Amino acid sequence: MRSVLVSSIAVLSWVTPALSQETMAGFLQEEYSCIMCHTDMRTGFLQGVHSGRGILCTDCHGGDPSQFEADAAHTEGFVGSMSKTEAVDLCLSCHGDLPQMRQFALEPVTEEEFLFSRHGRALLEDRNLLAPSCGDCHGSHAILPRTDPRSPVHPARIPETCSSCHSDPTRVPEGLPTDQLEQWQESAHGVALMAGHNERAANCASCHGSHSALPPGVLEIPNVCGKCHQLVRETYFRGPHGQAGPSSSGGIPCTACHANHETTMPPLSEIGSVCVSCHEEGSSAGVAGLELQEQVLRAQAAGSRARDALHILAEAGETIDDEEVRFLTVETHLRELLVQAHALEPEALDDLVRRISSLSTEIGERADVVEEHRWERQLLAIPAWVLLVFGILLALRKRRKLVAPVEDSSVGQGEGTES
Ligand code: HEC
Ligand code: HEC
Ligand code: HEC
Ligand code: HEC
Ligand code: HEC
Ligand code: HEC
Ligand code: HEC
Ligand code: HEC
Ligand code: HEC
Repeated sequence: MRSVLVSSIAVLSWVTPALSQETMAGFLQEEYSCIMCHTDMRTGFLQGVHSGRGILCTDCHGGDPSQFEADAAHTEGFVGSMSKTEAVDLCLSCHGDLPQMRQFALEPVTEEEFLFSRHGRALLEDRNLLAPSCGDCHGSHAILPRTDPRSPVHPARIPETCSSCHSDPTRVPEGLPTDQLEQWQESAHGVALMAGHNERAANCASCHGSHSALPPGVLEIPNVCGKCHQLVRETYFRGPHGQAGPSSSGGIPCTACHANHETTMPPLSEIGSVCVSCHEEGSSAGVAGLELQEQVLRAQAAGSRARDALHILAEAGETIDDEEVRFLTVETHLRELLVQAHALEPEALDDLVRRISSLSTEIGERADVVEEHRWERQLLAIPAWVLLVFGILLALRKRRKLVAPVEDSSVGQGEGTES
């Protein structure tokens, strides 16, 4: 009888989510005591990935789930609340095991990797309890895959997760700056990720790594940024800064011009001044910077002219298929120009700037023709207006002439009858 009841409740709970909260991994709370008393843990745990894989409270905490008294349940190798380091050992006992993780297409997380990070070393070697354990970034019960928008390690939530410590001076060692989130939010990356929902933009872990979190070294920076900005990276390594290597003042990383957290583009009109912050004014490098600036500005101006011309053509109702293709090419070349500028060779840009200018001129010439025609039509339209107004005036005059005598005669008649 009881088994019939149990199985019908099981079916019901499968159908109705409200009842299924009473179960975990196929167990009812009558069968698994931990979830009867620890209802808050159960709720979180059920949302997470582990419960769906048949991992139970007892896999991490031990204890005897067939006992319904707390003391009796908390026996049999029971592990209560764990320290941060014990928790790391626990998580790694499964996640460091390659064969076990392979089945789920998960990258193993090893102690070696974690120890490579500043966090792992601080926690496991220095016993610095400010440093995060696995649960500080993932939670301990409601653990979700990183693709779930509710997960604290979803790309859009990573900055908030890291900053729960890194923006709080009491949660990081004294002297470590706590302005990273503030700066990142203002950066091209922060704006693209938070306002533009562009998940490919760099979050904290894109540059620092997740489990091996470290600030990238000067020489690593071009590679870290270059993961995503591949074409810029290639060009940069062709140029003198990429070639300079470790021998010259430790290399010139991307962040020397773009900043690490407040990553932005230097304004186009200040390219030359960026260079003279390190090079002498009038030196060959300083002059090259001014030339680069001039070329980029010239190309941008040509791009704006092309955009205005396209606008004129569209307003005039012209077919602009060809011009639109030309304009797209202009825009592609403009982006290419900013990439190619990283080789720091002004002459190498000549060709691109010339192509941008001539495409812009082609669009502009057609707009000029359309503008001329418009003036012609407007000029032609003037006599028509004049004639029309003239015609109306004439007609009015004629009407006045026709109406006036009738009035005159009636007045005359009235006068006549009175007298
Ligand atoms: C009858 C209710 C009851 C049952 C059944 C029960 N617990 Fe508890 N558990 C408690 C209470 C109450 C506390 C907090 C008081 C304490 O520390 O003993 C607690 C504490 C804990 C803690 C935290 C211990 C700490 O050191 O702070 C863990 C972990 C835990 N239980 C896990 C389990 C697991 C796993 C099971 C099933 C095998 C289980 N409990 C079964 C009532 C229960
Ligand atoms: C994947 C391993 C894992 C599983 C499975 C797991 N826990 Fe835990 N639990 C932990 C870790 C790690 C901690 C200690 C860190 C913390 O407090 O977040 C903990 C802490 C606790 C605590 C103490 C919380 C506190 O605030 O001190 C309770 C109670 C508890 N777990 C109950 C449960 C119950 C009930 C289940 C089953 C529904 C469960 N746990 C399943 C890993 C696990
Ligand atoms: C400082 C925060 C932080 C700590 C500490 C941390 N993680 Fe992570 N973890 C992350 C981030 C961020 C990601 C997502 C990485 C990504 O999207 O590439 C992640 C991803 C994962 C994944 C998914 C990997 C995959 O292939 O999808 C697992 C599993 C994982 N972590 C387990 C652990 C374990 C176990 C520990 C403790 C040894 C731990 N994490 C400690 C931040 C952390
Ligand atoms: C008993 C083995 C076991 C233990 C202990 C364990 N895990 Fe897992 N974990 C798994 C398995 C299996 C999966 C795969 C689940 C799936 O993909 O459906 C998983 C998945 C995850 C994921 C999701 C990865 C992703 O992005 O898809 C994270 C994060 C994670 N575990 C973190 C932890 C943390 C943190 C701990 C310690 C508190 C922990 N795990 C303890 C076995 C375990
Ligand atoms: C639980 C708090 C906590 C969380 C969460 C946390 N950190 Fe940390 N982090 C620390 C502490 C504490 C240190 C200093 C460790 C030490 O060297 O003693 C640190 C150090 C660092 C450092 C090295 C800084 C330096 O120059 O010494 C980097 C980089 C870093 N964290 C990045 C991250 C990233 C990225 C995340 C999110 C994926 C993150 N942290 C999440 C507490 C945290
Ligand atoms: C995870 C990939 C990723 C990493 C790593 C990365 N970026 Fe970005 N970056 C992006 C994305 C995506 C954008 C946004 C592009 C957009 O909005 O059009 C962007 C935008 C930029 C911009 C603004 C470009 C513009 O046209 O406004 C600059 C400058 C920049 N990144 C420099 C860097 C530097 C320097 C580094 C390394 C310190 C770096 N990025 C690391 C993906 C990344
Ligand atoms: C585009 C790449 C990039 C992103 C995104 C990024 N960082 Fe950094 N971060 C760096 C680099 C490079 C350094 C090293 C700067 C140096 O050594 O001068 C650094 C340094 C740090 C440091 C050491 C202290 C300091 O401020 O110099 C911490 C802590 C840190 N970052 C945390 C974070 C956190 C938290 C986030 C997310 C809110 C984040 N970073 C986002 C590249 C990045
Ligand atoms: C010497 C200074 C300098 C260095 C070093 C530098 N950049 Fe730039 N970067 C610039 C300038 C100047 C521009 C473009 C002109 C502008 O808009 O001001 C630019 C533009 C960019 C853009 C925008 C291009 C686009 O497609 O929209 C990205 C992305 C970028 N840089 C990334 C990087 C990366 C990654 C590195 C390292 C491999 C790097 N930069 C190194 C100065 C520099
Ligand atoms: C952060 C400092 C820094 C900035 C900013 C910088 N450079 Fe450099 N540049 C260097 C260093 C260091 C070298 C290597 C010097 C060496 O090898 O002797 C170098 C080398 C060069 C060289 C080859 C050697 C030479 O002196 O002719 C050229 C060309 C050059 N830079 C152009 C530029 C241009 C153009 C800009 C601006 C867009 C710029 N640099 C911005 C630091 C910088």
